[in-house]
Amino acid sequence: MERIVEIDKISFENEYEKSLRPTSWEGYIGQEQIKRNLKVFIKASKQREECLDHVLFFGPPGLGKTTLAYIISNEMETNIKMVAAPMIDKSGDLAAILTNLEEGDILFIDEIHRLSPAIEEILYSAMEDFRLDIIIGSGPAAQTIKIDLPKFTLIGATTRAGMISSPLRDRFGMHFRLQFYDKIELSQIITKASHHLGKECLKEGALEIARRSRGTPRIALRLLKRVRDFADVEHEETISKERTDYALSELGVNELGFDELDIKFLKLLVESRGKALGLSTIAAALSEDEGTIEDVIEPYLLANGYMQRTAKGRIASRKCYELFKLTPLESDGLFGETLL
Ligand SMILES: Nc1ncnc2c1ncn2[C@@H]1O[C@H](COP(=O)(O)OP(=O)(O)OP(=O)(O)O)[C@@H](O)[C@H]1O
Ligand SMILES: [Mg+2]
Repeated sequence: MERIVEIDKISFENEYEKSLRPTSWEGYIGQEQIKRNLKVFIKASKQREECLDHVLFFGPPGLGKTTLAYIISNEMETNIKMVAAPMIDKSGDLAAILTNLEEGDILFIDEIHRLSPAIEEILYSAMEDFRLDIIIGSGPAAQTIKIDLPKFTLIGATTRAGMISSPLRDRFGMHFRLQFYDKIELSQIITKASHHLGKECLKEGALEIARRSRGTPRIALRLLKRVRDFADVEHEETISKERTDYALSELGVNELGFDELDIKFLKLLVESRGKALGLSTIAAALSEDEGTIEDVIEPYLLANGYMQRTAKGRIASRKCYELFKLTPLESDGLFGETLL
């Protein structure tokens, strides 16, 4: 079953999202600290007429990493070339991309933790010295060819901070971790998008969608679109709180933004009564792949204190027991639990 709160790991953007993507700072809601910093660095590098230093964005899917990359390219008034790491298969692929860049261009590599070690190696000298070192042949006859590259800015994005090798991470001059959005920020994004769609979402309706969007703009936009369908069918001119409530419960999204899979996941943790569960056990029990659990389901539950990750695995938090109207027992391991 398709999850309405699901987000694709590598989003091959749909037209709807693309049309709602803000192109300047004014349209980019929230992430204030990141915005403040980037504005300074962009201004400084423009003053010096230099390339912006390489930037790395971390954060769960749908929080606005790609959008930030586009805004940076607009602000810097440069071209941006986008690739997804899994598409860079051979060193020749990367060499072709790099040699085709023009001075000052931005190269955006999505899911950058998925680059192979050999490709990463090539990227190191490209990032540091704007030079390509390509080895031709093998053994004693091997030759290294050096090609100078135009100065460029690499923007990397990843949903898995822990999976980036440290030599690669260290070559980025700026690291930013995107945060989940609060209800007010999301409701602003929803209100704007609803105007764009030509169907006004009333304040309470927008707040309700925001509350159930797991802190994620992409989910908020997706839910808005579905709720609008419900309102359209009823010939309602605006999107009300009542229609929102109705539509979202029809879609199986509860008051906290959890769907069936989240509930199954949390129930599994509660039912293990304090015995930490490993990722593979959870994946098998839910028939989901480990990547989806780690990238999509867990970050929001962790950030909101519904679960804990200990050295031994995942356990339910007190808040999670409360969700199921249970009181944790001493044997459930929540008392004096040492957290990572
Ligand atoms: N701060 C924001 N203000 C307004 N809209 C936003 C903001 N962040 C994201 N969005 C909207 O949410 C959508 C998803 O954002 P984006 O594609 O940038 O996420 P992402 O972090 O790159 O996700 P992924 O990891 O899946 O690639 C965008 O199309 C944009 O419309
Ligand atoms: Mg993206």
